[in-house]
Amino acid sequence: MSAKPQNAPFGSVLTDLMAIARYRDGAWSDFEILPTGPLEIHPAAHALHYGSACFEGFKAYSRPDGSVQIFRLDRHIARMQQSARLLVLPEPDPVLLESMVKTLIDRVRADVPAAPGALYLRPALFGTMPNIGAAAMPSNEACLVVLASPVWDYFAGGMKPLRILVDDQNMRCAPHLGVVKTGGNYAAAMGPTLAARRSFGVDQVLFCPGGEVQETGAANFILLRPGQLLTRSLDSSFLPGVTRDSLLVLAQDMGYAVEERVFRVPEMLEFARNGEAALSGTAAVLAGVGTLVHDGHEHRVGDGDVGPETRKLRSALVAIQQGEAPDRHGWLTRV
Ligand SMILES: Cc1ncc(COP(=O)(O)O)c(C=O)c1O
Repeated sequence: MSAKPQNAPFGSVLTDLMAIARYRDGAWSDFEILPTGPLEIHPAAHALHYGSACFEGFKAYSRPDGSVQIFRLDRHIARMQQSARLLVLPEPDPVLLESMVKTLIDRVRADVPAAPGALYLRPALFGTMPNIGAAAMPSNEACLVVLASPVWDYFAGGMKPLRILVDDQNMRCAPHLGVVKTGGNYAAAMGPTLAARRSFGVDQVLFCPGGEVQETGAANFILLRPGQLLTRSLDSSFLPGVTRDSLLVLAQDMGYAVEERVFRVPEMLEFARNGEAALSGTAAVLAGVGTLVHDGHEHRVGDGDVGPETRKLRSALVAIQQGEAPDRHGWLTRV
């Protein structure tokens, strides 16, 4: 890596190496470790026209003994297989993908930042069959790449409470594809999110199609009170976050009553008045919400700052990820 700017925006710095494998004639090739750089891709490639592409994102943490620990690798591989299946792309072989990730981490070990930094891993899978007439035909060729990006302290500037627009008009994406980590879903959320930033000065949009609280453009949504956690129950319409799952397990361990169910905007606003709201995801882990903007009104969440329950749960998860607390659930894979 040429430069290591500690305050570089998340994902903007890549390691010098990447892992790559190709699917052709019904089988995956062995993978190669290559210099990170442009790939040759046919302009008729399926992914460029028909959106046959998906990805994953997870982190690995360095330890003072030189080892690196990957957080919930199996879950992320399983979610990528599900994304591929639902997009009718060749499923990545889990053994191959695990090996690509571990080998790449081993080769770039020196670039894994110390805590609270991490190495963010980004596997991406895309259909490469060159056929512009294949709108209703799956790609029989694909490329699987694993990129790695050193990321530094997400909250270096302090934990600033987020300002969120509650949108009960737009959908983040097609309801049957919410579970899929595919670029089209992010493209679909981009317009409403940029418009909300311009009009309301918010950080993110909380999509609540039909008035049911769902998730934001790139994170799950959680409500907290002392001893109580409420979040939407899983369905096909939104992404089953690995951070969400981990926080729910830890909350249960810590004695919280964990409720997963559908709830609507008025109940959320009422809960948030004396409670806490937070966004969960790999990048930020758990980020507190200070203000919800709905129907032209500003609703302060609790006292408007990042609340104590949010901080407590976040710290509990970060402690496991960074090796300061025991890994009781077997979430870490050593490299
Ligand atoms: C749409 C969406 N929801 C939720 C999440 C959180 O998922 P995870 O906790 O697995 O990172 C992400 C981020 O990866 C996301 O893009």
